[in-house]
Amino acid sequence: MQTPATSLTGRRIVLGVTGGIAAYKAADLVRRLTEAGAEVQVVMTANAQRFVGAQTFQALSGTPVRSSLWDETAEAAMGHIELARWPDLILIAPASANCIARLAHGLADDLLTTLCLASDRPVAIAPAMNRLMWAHAATQANLHTLMHRGVHVLGPGSGGQACGETGEGRMWEPLQIRDAVAALLHTGRLNGVRIVLTAGPTREPIDPVRFITNRSSGKMGYALADALARMGAEVTLVSGPTALPVPAGTRRIEVETADEMLAATQDAAAQAQILIGAAAVADYRLEAVAEHKIKKKADTLDLRLVKNPDILATVRAAHPQLFVVGFAAETEDLAEHARDKLLRKKLDLIAANWVGSGRAFDRDDNALHVFWAGGERELAHGPKSRLARELADLIAERYLAHPAAAR
Ligand code: C5P
Repeated sequence: MQTPATSLTGRRIVLGVTGGIAAYKAADLVRRLTEAGAEVQVVMTANAQRFVGAQTFQALSGTPVRSSLWDETAEAAMGHIELARWPDLILIAPASANCIARLAHGLADDLLTTLCLASDRPVAIAPAMNRLMWAHAATQANLHTLMHRGVHVLGPGSGGQACGETGEGRMWEPLQIRDAVAALLHTGRLNGVRIVLTAGPTREPIDPVRFITNRSSGKMGYALADALARMGAEVTLVSGPTALPVPAGTRRIEVETADEMLAATQDAAAQAQILIGAAAVADYRLEAVAEHKIKKKADTLDLRLVKNPDILATVRAAHPQLFVVGFAAETEDLAEHARDKLLRKKLDLIAANWVGSGRAFDRDDNALHVFWAGGERELAHGPKSRLARELADLIAERYLAHPAAAR
């Protein structure tokens, strides 16, 4: 049975299959996508057909495979420009290094690349190749170009490769790709709900080369953004500096200072139903940022700090319709401080965690204690990805029971 998070009912997907041994996994992917309710039109490159026959894909998708720009019968049924407009998503799995290079350079020398160029629909690629091809500067530069253009890159994973080597470059498993596609296409329990989520640290400049920041890695916020997108939410991630990739199906706005984070959050919140503050916002910034690098002269240096705006409280006051979720990182009296923040910042839900001495910050695990008016729930210690899913479920549950959801 399909869970709502993986429902693709009525969604149209052009699945591009390029030449690589992982093409055999694309056959299973077709099954997974169609089982979830998607309509799939397979487009194979000439090289892909050296690995798997078109008949296999035709049988699984229930539709003849397209592979050439010059197939008159297929063109008469649906011309390639029409086909470029047909899908909700163009998914290329496996995407070979060659295909990635051709897309990056805007080539249109076969049906698949022509479709990508002639379509304004989202494109996602699931790379699959030998680890050295993946690591090659040319491939990485091409990927960078594609990501910059908004192409979603799903994977790759690492592990044993068909060539006998071990490393990064394995295509993601079909179920993982299917779930990422569902996230990209926003299908699930929070279908169409717009969420603004702040994550990561902020950076408060001292002078052109120095800044004040904190230990936040952004991992919890990013994991939560990912879990919410998988439930169908349209997530805008307002992020301080982190090294993390953009979760599939989310829109990231990159900021540095608390002031920039406030401005970006205010903007996005006007259209949103839910606001989540997972960022570790610096409480203070420099009263005046030095125009030039401060020279090391005196034995002591005084820096005068002023308080930063409280983003959650400010945005909540400007947009009272929002369902607002905050985080509390505490080193003592967790429940008391969390409840106090819930009231003071007029939050609808607060997720509290212990911090300090190897807990929470810049780690992959965590534990949360969630409070709301009239209730609380402990989310047991575990990986942030699992906690994020549990917290996303709880946010959905509380939000859907809230009058804000009826708007
Ligand atoms: O007051 P405290 O920093 O403990 O509150 C934490 C919560 O408030 C978090 O959700 C955090 O993202 C948010 N916050 C904010 N703006 C600030 C400080 C905290 O939105 N300036």
